[in-house]
Amino acid sequence: LDNGLGQSPPMGWNSWNRYTCDINETVILNNAKAMKETGLLELGYNHIIMDDCWSKRQRDPETGKIVPDPEKFPNGLEDMIEKIHNMGFKFGMYSSAGKYTCAGYPGSLDYEEIDAKTFADWKIDYLKYDNCFNQGRSGTPLISYQRYEAMSEALNKTGRPIFYALCQWGEDQVWNWASTVANSWRITGDIYDSFDRYDIRCPCETYDCPSLQGYHCSIMNIVNKATPLAQKTGPNSGWSDMDMLEIGNGGMTYDEYLTHFTMWAVLKSPLILGNDVSNMSPEHLALVSNFDVIAVHQDVSAPANRIWKKPFVDSFVHLFSGALSNGDWVVAIVNEATVPLVEMSIPFSDIFFDNRDNAKFAWTAKDLWTKETITAARHLTVDVVPHGTQVWRLQKSTHNSHNSNYWTG
Ligand code: GLA
Repeated sequence: LDNGLGQSPPMGWNSWNRYTCDINETVILNNAKAMKETGLLELGYNHIIMDDCWSKRQRDPETGKIVPDPEKFPNGLEDMIEKIHNMGFKFGMYSSAGKYTCAGYPGSLDYEEIDAKTFADWKIDYLKYDNCFNQGRSGTPLISYQRYEAMSEALNKTGRPIFYALCQWGEDQVWNWASTVANSWRITGDIYDSFDRYDIRCPCETYDCPSLQGYHCSIMNIVNKATPLAQKTGPNSGWSDMDMLEIGNGGMTYDEYLTHFTMWAVLKSPLILGNDVSNMSPEHLALVSNFDVIAVHQDVSAPANRIWKKPFVDSFVHLFSGALSNGDWVVAIVNEATVPLVEMSIPFSDIFFDNRDNAKFAWTAKDLWTKETITAARHLTVDVVPHGTQVWRLQKSTHNSHNSNYWTG
């Protein structure tokens, strides 16, 4: 969507994964304060997004407007939004392209103009727009498109720049039409805080469920679903939303969370934290604060591509690579198996699959987790722990391979 927003995917925090409906002013402000105190705001996590369950059950009968819950927001929502803005954040709001939100609060279907105006008056900067209770107005791309287009136009009419994030779970081939109306679009059912456990009623990676509502997807489900769709995203179109992060919520090991974070970054999903930031372990905080990985995510370029996925013991190894805007490359190897991957050689001809000239050069490769830098020619040698990921940033070496010792090494 050409509204001047989202040249790179957004970063921030959202209340849902950790708190679901248990939100109020204190919870949201405490997380915002923690985001600032821990340095996450400065690193680019600059959206505070309030998810479902913020309003009263009924609209105001006189004005028709949605009314913030006065018990959850005793000082009023506008007061909280102002505090969040004063801390230096943008503020994200939630509604649904349905009669109700997923938790049964008033939705914006057929109230697009009045709600967009209300939200703009409250000075929101981001809208997450869900898909529950859509009154059967789904099932074909066109019908869904019209429902989401209505809010896009209403937001545009307000004159306020508002990042528009669709939450349609990948139904009706959303990736084929969303970029004309929105800045990002969810591509799966809700994330599950697990590396590879998922809801067996729907495999998440196929589209043959009647509806994707309520189906939960593992990290690897979402990676597999996002991979072919990477081609449909980029700085001038918009982004596949792989859902909010689960880091810090307790369902995965450190190495699994590292894979989760690295993959969301190289595939350029929005990086929206979904944990209690005021009570975060130092190792999880360090994980989401990795400046080098964030720099790849925020680089104005397309997502990395998956070059291959090869069987390995009880699972797979995946190779991703992608060009960055300054000529550097990002390369990631995911070990989905439960045994370590030891000294696997990755040829440059694989990494530079569509730019074979690059394979002739020597490259300096920085491991973005260990920060170790090596110079390599013709191949990289990788060691990856079970469920872990190794990721490098490659910069062309000043010696080229023809006069460098590395070529023969
Ligand atoms: C849907 C969305 C979630 C969350 C909930 C709120 O399930 O996919 O991300 O917003 O609704 O009820």
